[in-house]
Amino acid sequence: MAEKLSLKKGEKILFAIFGAFIVFAVIGYAILESIRLSSDKPMFTIRTHFDLSEKGKQGSQLFREKGRCTACHRAMQSGTNMGLSLDGIGSKYSRAWISDFLHDPEKTYRETYDRPTFDHGIGKEAGYVANMPDRDLDLIAVFLSELKSDVGSSSAPRPPEGRSPFIDKMIGTFAPESWKEEFQDVRTKDSHELIGEPDSEQQEQAEGGEKVR
Ligand code: HEC
Repeated sequence: MAEKLSLKKGEKILFAIFGAFIVFAVIGYAILESIRLSSDKPMFTIRTHFDLSEKGKQGSQLFREKGRCTACHRAMQSGTNMGLSLDGIGSKYSRAWISDFLHDPEKTYRETYDRPTFDHGIGKEAGYVANMPDRDLDLIAVFLSELKSDVGSSSAPRPPEGRSPFIDKMIGTFAPESWKEEFQDVRTKDSHELIGEPDSEQQEQAEGGEKVR
């Protein structure tokens, strides 16, 4: 007849550890949820925003559907977390730069960063992008240039206002003198400095003018 199944000592210990993990996970989740629900502060501050024009909306659709960009990128809450997020990219590069990159990624990356692309060049996985019709690429460039970021966002050209004594000390201690000649401290950079030629609309905004449509 069937013997009574009894666990060995090692098995009991393993089950106990495993069980403890589950219990901790459930308790942790319950605590986190109760904090989240009772707090009126958002858990994550969103520092990117967008205000799409008609062309921008068309570009957004191309980005998600025909262009299949969301297979590797993320923007406006759609796409994958595995690749490069393009939220806020319009505060980093000018529309002209984005358009140049989409049409000729290899050349544009060489000129800007002095390195080859990983996925966007001819024969690479996203090589097809440069072969899309000019009209599509232009609409996508409009869309991407309308994804903006605030100061303090990882895609912003400049970190939040205010100096940090800690960072000043770290730089004083660890950064070799030669770096000061070779590199610019991002904290002293002009906040509106874009990579690439700014187009007239962006320049207007940078000068504090109203955006006219
Ligand atoms: C196979 C994955 C893949 C696909 C598909 C893809 N990209 Fe990319 N994209 C990358 C990678 C990786 C980079 C970083 C540059 C490089 O090394 O190629 C990048 C960089 C970019 C950049 C420059 C960002 C920066 O900060 O330098 C833009 C703009 C861009 N992609 C737009 C697009 C658009 C628009 C599409 C769709 C039409 C698209 N990508 C499809 C992988 C992909």
